[in-house]
Amino acid sequence: MLIEKNVPLESCNSFRIVAKANCMVRIASLTDIETIVAHPDWLGRSKFVLGGGSNIVLTGDIKPLVLKVEMKGRRLLEDNAKAFIVEADAGENWHDFVAWTLEQGYPGLENMALIPGTVGAAPVQNIGAYGVELQDRFDSLDAVDLQSGRMFTLNAAQCAFGYRDSVFKHSSSSIGLAGRTLITRVRFSLPKLWKAVLGYADLERKIFESGIAQPSAQQIFQWICDIRRSKLPDPLVIGNAGSFFKNPSVTPEQCADIIARDPKIVYYHLADGSVKLAAGWLIDACGWKGKSVGNAGVYEKQALVLVNRGGATGGEVMTLAKAIQTSVYERFGIRLEPEPVVV
Ligand code: EPU
Repeated sequence: MLIEKNVPLESCNSFRIVAKANCMVRIASLTDIETIVAHPDWLGRSKFVLGGGSNIVLTGDIKPLVLKVEMKGRRLLEDNAKAFIVEADAGENWHDFVAWTLEQGYPGLENMALIPGTVGAAPVQNIGAYGVELQDRFDSLDAVDLQSGRMFTLNAAQCAFGYRDSVFKHSSSSIGLAGRTLITRVRFSLPKLWKAVLGYADLERKIFESGIAQPSAQQIFQWICDIRRSKLPDPLVIGNAGSFFKNPSVTPEQCADIIARDPKIVYYHLADGSVKLAAGWLIDACGWKGKSVGNAGVYEKQALVLVNRGGATGGEVMTLAKAIQTSVYERFGIRLEPEPVVV
């Protein structure tokens, strides 16, 4: 097994931040994981799992051994009365997997088209867009405990999915699995009784403009790609990690208090009685759209996305993020929480 030294990570993170992995190993099979877990040089030492690198901010070189997940494969496991059960290996590109499911005639993931990253990283974040979250289509996943080498399977309840959250984002001091787990395969349950999810304003606009009242999954996939391309920067052109902050939840009282001061605020009522505020609007209202700190900036078309204007360091990104958090807190009394993992 080849352990590469001083590996440049610029092309391995969607922010395109310059940093190195002191040591990196490419994981292309379960055997590779077994080998590295049992490797005498790395026994008991911390490891860092890297998928597509689309949800991380690198603030320096990575000292733990980097495990670059490159396992590929996707397959139909089961075709039962209710659903297609489809499985993909962790190193598959998420968008390519979504496109493949649609080509095979298994709809259900179309609203999550073009989300950057890998299949293995998708449950960590419980990725979601345009009214569908990974947990809505999730069946189960296989993973490896990097300390013991033990393989295990988790169902949705065991993954403890929340809004951009799961058991994989919490450290092992609580009940979490962060820092000690490598997800190897993910299975999805794509219901045969497919129903289009069209509740978002951007999609309603597409229906209105096209005159297509009952779009197919393929049509929705195309619309989502068009919408995302029109307002989110392509990481291959401008480095970024998608939404940089989570949309904060507040109580109806807190929301009423903000509306009294800022009647234009964008918010959504959630089923549990709380209110979700559009973080992009809060940041925009504080005048950040298009602004920069050093080489890190706020995207011109969507204030929720921080971008690398060329040569930005992770430190510059975090300085900008903190300045945004401070101004949103001072104006609205709301603490924005970053979505990406800061390394
Ligand atoms: N808005 C502004 N100014 C801005 C940005 C947004 O006023 O600069 C307001 C607009 O009124 C807009 C509202 O905020 O209607 C919400 O914005 P948008 O519909 O673009 O969605 P979002 O809340 O910014 C979330 C997800 C995205 C996902 C979209 C669509 C989070 C943190 N982000 O963004 O996910 O694609 O909804 O479902 O939940 C990601 O996580 O990386 C991501 C891109």
